Amino acid sequence: MNILDKALEERPLKKEELRKLLDIEQPKELELLYKTANFLRQKNLSNSCCVHGILEFSNYCKQGCLYCGISTANTNVPRYRMTHEEILAAAHEAINRYGFKALVLQSGEDPAYSVDDLCSIIKEIKKNDAVLIFISIGEIGIDGLKKLYEAGARGLLMRFESSNPALYSKIHPNCSLETRIAHLKAAYEMGYLVLTGSLIGIPGQTKDDIINDILLTKELHAEMYSFGPFLPHPETPLKDAQPVPSTEILKTLAICRIVDPVNAKILVTTGFETLDPKAREQGLMAGANSVMLNVTPEKFKKNYTIYPHRAHEDESIQYQIDTTLALLRNLGRAPTDLGI
Ligand code: 5AD
Repeated sequence: MNILDKALEERPLKKEELRKLLDIEQPKELELLYKTANFLRQKNLSNSCCVHGILEFSNYCKQGCLYCGISTANTNVPRYRMTHEEILAAAHEAINRYGFKALVLQSGEDPAYSVDDLCSIIKEIKKNDAVLIFISIGEIGIDGLKKLYEAGARGLLMRFESSNPALYSKIHPNCSLETRIAHLKAAYEMGYLVLTGSLIGIPGQTKDDIINDILLTKELHAEMYSFGPFLPHPETPLKDAQPVPSTEILKTLAICRIVDPVNAKILVTTGFETLDPKAREQGLMAGANSVMLNVTPEKFKKNYTIYPHRAHEDESIQYQIDTTLALLRNLGRAPTDLGI
């Protein structure tokens, strides 16, 4: 296919061409799409694969996102909040016992932690250990972002979820895409590494929306592309929606690589692994080069139910590391950001 020839030469593709790639259905053509993405990944980034840790420190959330299992509207999920000491201990263990060099601190939008609380947690972690800290705590305000950067946070993980403003408003009551994007732009200007992307398969989303999502991610100077499937949660208004076929996610990852061949870190998300047990291997062979392992203590982790039956939810940190390293070795890939 001559669009893929153009991609191989790293010539920019037009929107219509990207759309054609997303429309591919034939197994042979799909194979070529994935191979092209894999070739570009290997050529530009060699065999490295980022392995980051994610610590989910609170599942309280004041937002009412229609797809999310920890939305404030779900009164059936047992809520938890880790104390400062518990967060520091879990971070310390992830860094010193398991060797993580990059950690995402994630929670719902939980007003119980003030910006100052979060700053002091980050400062404390950074005082003891050399680690790259990403925050993933929703919309904390531009001023909040500034303070957290000063405290030592260096990355912001925040999906914009959908680049279509009408669809965004539909699934995020009382929120606007504009505010979301303002956070992402401001964070980049402040010096944050930006990790962003969208949900694939939200009811009402079109294929053109997905292409626009990928292009917006690039426009936001994403260091890491985070695209995963929307997975219906039984206790949300979108419970009856159909999950997206896993091919759509693989195609999305491959197109991300084609759009940003040289620099992008592209994540195989836990959501994708929940949708398809082969996701990690297939994603890593279709342009992706990043994974995140869950370092939340087990008693809390089981209640961070943004969607049901999360992949790896019953696995210890050590088991996740062992299986991840074994897979990477099998694929001829080398982990980065992990190791004592
Ligand atoms: N399916 C898949 N991903 C979800 N998220 C929230 N709810 C769901 C769901 N039902 C994702 C959002 C958010 C991230 C932390 O979790 O994209 O950015």
